[in-house]
Amino acid sequence: MNTLKDRVEKLHIQFRQLLSEARGDASIAQIKAQFLGRKGELTSLLRDLKNLSPAERPEAGEVLNRVKNEMESEIEEALLAARQEKQKKSFEEKIDITLPGRRIPLGKVHPITQVLERATAIFFNLGFEVAEGPEVEFDYYNFEALNIPRDHPARDMQDTFYLSDDILLRTHTSPVQVRVMESKKPPVKIIAPGKVYRCDSDVSHSPMFHQIEGFFVDSGVSFADLKGTLTVFVHQMFGEETALRFRPSFFPFTEPSAEVDIQCVICQGSGCRVCSGTGWIEILGSGLIHPEVFRMVGYDPEEVSGFAFGMGIERIAMLRYGIDDIRLFFENDLRFLRQF
Ligand code: PHE
Repeated sequence: MNTLKDRVEKLHIQFRQLLSEARGDASIAQIKAQFLGRKGELTSLLRDLKNLSPAERPEAGEVLNRVKNEMESEIEEALLAARQEKQKKSFEEKIDITLPGRRIPLGKVHPITQVLERATAIFFNLGFEVAEGPEVEFDYYNFEALNIPRDHPARDMQDTFYLSDDILLRTHTSPVQVRVMESKKPPVKIIAPGKVYRCDSDVSHSPMFHQIEGFFVDSGVSFADLKGTLTVFVHQMFGEETALRFRPSFFPFTEPSAEVDIQCVICQGSGCRVCSGTGWIEILGSGLIHPEVFRMVGYDPEEVSGFAFGMGIERIAMLRYGIDDIRLFFENDLRFLRQF
C-alpha cells in the first residue's frame, strides 16, 4: 500500500516537473497523454487497482483519483497559461500603426525660380500673357531684327557665345519680342521669362542667368504706361516704400530708352558699397520700341507704339535677399538653398 502511494506521489512530482518545463500546447498535450492517456502511467496504476485486496483498494483508490484530478486541473491551468502567453506575444509583435512615419525630405523651389514666379505673377495680374522663345537662337532674332546690324558697336555690349556664324545662345530675352510680333497682330501684351547666356563670370555675372522681358504694343501706348507698369512692379517686388527713378540710357531697339534704378535696398539711399555710394541700384533696361523694330516685324510705326523692358532675375533676387555673390545661386549648396 505504501509503495503504491509512494509511486503515485513520485509520479506526480515527475509530472509537475515536466509540465513546468513544457512550452506550448503540443508539449502539454504530450505530457497529458504520457500520464493520463489510455496507456498513460497514472492510468495503468488505476487499472492495477483491481489487483489489490478489497481492504487496500479504498485508500489506494482515493489517492489515485485525487492525483488524477489534480493532474487534470494542472493540465487545464497549463493550457490556459500557454494560450495567454501566446496572445501576449502576438500582441507585442503586432505592428504599431500609430507610430509616426519616417519623414521624407521635401525639396524646395530654388530662390531664382521663386523670384521668377513672383515677377511673372505681378505682370500676369497686370494683364500680361506669358510667351517663351528658344535659348539657341538665330543671330537675326537676337541682334539684326532688334536693330543691331553685324558691324554695330552695340554687339560689343554683350559677350556672345556663338554656335556657328548665324546661330548663338541668346544673350537676352528681347528676341522673343520679335518672334511674338512676327506671329501676332497688335495689341500684344507679353512677358517672356527664361535663361540667357553671356561669356562673363565674376561675383555679379554668371555665364547663364535669367531674364524676364516685357512688352506692350497697341495704338497709343506711351512712356507713361511704361512708368506706371514698372512702378507697380517695383512696389510689389520690393515694397511700397521703395523709390525708383528712370535714367536716360541707350538701347538700339528702343527710343527713347531708360534704365530704372531703385533706391538701394541695403543702405536705403544713404550710400554704401553695394550702390557705390550713389544710393541707387540699376535693375532693368527699358524704352519705347524703336520704329525700325516695328518695320522688321511688319508693324506700322505710324499706327502702333509700344514699350519694352528687360531685367535680370538674379540681380533682383540678390537685392531682395541681400546676397552679394551671384555664384551662390548655382553652387547647389543645400545650406544656402534651405534659407529660402
Ligand atoms: N535686352 C536688354 C538687355 O538685356 C534689356 C532691354 C529690354 C532694354 C527691353 C530695353 C528694352 O540688356
